[in-house]
Amino acid sequence: MKWINSEIGDLGEQLILPLFEGVEKAPNNALSGLSRTQRSLVREAIASDDFEGKKGKRMSVWTPGCNIILVGMGDKSSLGHKRARNTGARLIAAMSKKKGLRVTVRFTSGWSIERMIDFAEGMMLRDYEFLQHQEVDESHVTEPWSVGFQASPRHQVRLGEDLQKAHSVVGGVHLARDLGNEPANILFPMEYAHRAIEWGKGKSNVEVEVYEWEKLQELGMGGLINVGKGSERKPCMVLFTLNPDADEGIQRPCIVGKGITFDTGGISIKPSNGMWDMKYDMCGAATVFGLMEALHSTNYGRRVNGIACLAENMPSSGAYRPGDVFRTYSGKTVEVFSTDAEGRNVLSDGLWKAGEFDPEYIVDLATLTGAIVVALGNQITGMWSNDEGVARKVKKAASSSGEPVWRMPLNAQFRKYMTDSAFADIRNGSIGGRAGSSNSAASFLEFFVPHRGFEEARDKIPWVHLDIAGTAWGPGSKARSEGANPLFQYGVSGVHVRTLHRLISEG
Ligand code: BES
Ligand code: MN
Ligand code: ZN
Repeated sequence: MKWINSEIGDLGEQLILPLFEGVEKAPNNALSGLSRTQRSLVREAIASDDFEGKKGKRMSVWTPGCNIILVGMGDKSSLGHKRARNTGARLIAAMSKKKGLRVTVRFTSGWSIERMIDFAEGMMLRDYEFLQHQEVDESHVTEPWSVGFQASPRHQVRLGEDLQKAHSVVGGVHLARDLGNEPANILFPMEYAHRAIEWGKGKSNVEVEVYEWEKLQELGMGGLINVGKGSERKPCMVLFTLNPDADEGIQRPCIVGKGITFDTGGISIKPSNGMWDMKYDMCGAATVFGLMEALHSTNYGRRVNGIACLAENMPSSGAYRPGDVFRTYSGKTVEVFSTDAEGRNVLSDGLWKAGEFDPEYIVDLATLTGAIVVALGNQITGMWSNDEGVARKVKKAASSSGEPVWRMPLNAQFRKYMTDSAFADIRNGSIGGRAGSSNSAASFLEFFVPHRGFEEARDKIPWVHLDIAGTAWGPGSKARSEGANPLFQYGVSGVHVRTLHRLISEG
């Protein structure tokens, strides 16, 4: 989407008027530039009982030369970020490019700058397609929307700055979606690495380093090696550093993502009907990449580290087996209960590596367990943490981004479930079986969160784990129910790029 901000002025081929409940006449300025005929058509529409500004209601008024859409925003005093964002998203989803690409959105009386940005962000987020591998219908318009956001002169400076920021962050979300939506035959571990290297080229404040197969052996990254060795497409770790020269001696965040480019389950193979979605099993790593793009394109100046743990989990004669014991990068050994509990294995190396940056805190993102989908559904991410302060900040950033998280427990019971292996330091499956299995998965990860400076006597590094198995992708708005997320239509959501951008840049 191309965009521009201005005072109330020029008119595109389509005019959007977002209006509050109870509106009886067109607000000042809303109709400026329209002909007398057009004005009276709109006035009559607003005065009629057919449009009252109720939330979720829209009315199109065709006028010569301009398609005018009245958008009901509901009650003005209770308009929050969520309704504003979702209404913008639903609006763009319902609009037809055939009626004209040049769109004018007029924010008139009652609109705060924050809500304008939310509305615009919703429009931008939803304006996404993934058509890379198909012939598009001739009637499909691929040119981008060109949207003019108009508001009073006093808002112009902030409107311009904040729209620019929102647009850049949405670019990061869309990059995460692109990576996640790519099928596994195209996006395999080293392909992700190549895209990361390409992305880093020409960016003077970005470093991208890749630990390939040989390097993983040298370092003893047994989690990545064992999960990835059954595939011809070998595993790797991708390390992003934004602003490597900034904040010397200052602790900064490190974000770690699960990047299983396809999860067959390995030797503990998944049933075929549950397998299709497993091309999405790298969405944690997609969010890490998208976040780096969002931070970079908003000119974020401080240092941030990102780690993507990439592997393809395949069954073969070279694959790891249940019962195997392997040594992770941390030196701790893992007994394989199920080769399908692979996410935690690769993350064990990522979390330990994160400790080497002496980070202020670590956030990991992973499509880790089917059980979290059962527990929290498709709109809420599961969150675990060993630190109240960081947990509170993540929760707040997530909530203001419309990407809610729900805190889940870590306790001695779940730790015990994982650490009672007779043959290794920890097992990648729980003696509790399915009981609380998202929690026992989290306590496996907790086991690999390093103590500060790798000194046992010191506290563990503050850490937050986000299980995005339910929120990273979805059926989108094909369903009628509110349960569907209006911010994306199908495939990958790009969840938590915005949360983490907010956490890091405003925190
Ligand atoms: N990638 C899956 C988790 C998953 C399942 C995500 C369904 C989204 C939808 C993960 O690697 C996995 O297979 N987890 C197992 C763990 C079990 C073997 C301990 C699970 O959730 O069943
Ligand atoms: Mn699995
Ligand atoms: Zn998986």
